[in-house]
Amino acid sequence: MFAEFIAPLTPEQFFSDHWPDAPYAGPPAALPERLLDAVPELGSAEAVLRSFGGTVSLIQRNGPHARVPRGSDALPMYRAGFTCYMRHVEREFVGLAELIDDAGSRLGLPPDCISCEIFCSADRSGVPLHSDFDVNFALLLSGSKRWRLAPNTSIENQTKMCFARDRKQADDRQLTYAHAPLPERMPDDAREVTMEAGGLLFLPRGWWHETYSTGACMQLNLVVKGPHWGRVFSGALEERLLEAADWREFAYGVSAPDGPGHDAAVDRLADLITGLQKSLAGEDPRALAAELAASFRAAAPRPSGG
Ligand SMILES: [Fe+2]
Repeated sequence: MFAEFIAPLTPEQFFSDHWPDAPYAGPPAALPERLLDAVPELGSAEAVLRSFGGTVSLIQRNGPHARVPRGSDALPMYRAGFTCYMRHVEREFVGLAELIDDAGSRLGLPPDCISCEIFCSADRSGVPLHSDFDVNFALLLSGSKRWRLAPNTSIENQTKMCFARDRKQADDRQLTYAHAPLPERMPDDAREVTMEAGGLLFLPRGWWHETYSTGACMQLNLVVKGPHWGRVFSGALEERLLEAADWREFAYGVSAPDGPGHDAAVDRLADLITGLQKSLAGEDPRALAAELAASFRAAAPRPSGG
């Protein structure tokens, strides 16, 4: 299913020329038949909204944002010109599981880090400048969408979405990761691409983008949200630490206010860290990495199988 999703680009071309850092904008193409067979609702935005039982975000370019609890609640707003944005649509449209599982095995990533999202708008619409922390494969199902794209020279490997400098950020911690000010607007030399129905845009992590859609537009995004090495290491290390009773002890005092109770907790943790340092000192990093990676892989959910 992944190969059909990125066609006419082949997986070999994709992995040699684009994954993970180089954008790709594909030509208009027939929509993958297997995808439409698996999720017939993708044939119409109104069908998607009528069937979708999760929260829908309503977006207007530089305008009000809102949320409604179900797709059917969003229908009047869709018709009134709002862009409707739905996350984790694979939970409602189970036919997407095959695409997610196949993408996970092709990309070598756990399927629970991959999900699907849908954007739809009835008329002229779009989203203002932002950069996403995740990797997006955006398949335009209908309509036409112009994108402006620019590499991110302010933050490397952000972990939340970022907006233009003058807007309130979703997570101020990202600003501490930045090594240069965020841009105020899209640079003049931004790349511009216009996607037509059936075209796939591969947008690497962090790239700045803004979009302008015309006509009734619907887009299915396959979204890759990690895991980053911090999660792989900490998750697998936790598995290993919990083999020892000392690390399974409750962290009494860890949240106590400054004083003897908290100091005792810090002392206890320092003892544990000293023991860990001793046990790691003699280990070969390659062998440890292999052990932790195998542990992470074993703990990840298995593909759902269809
Ligand atoms: Fe985005």
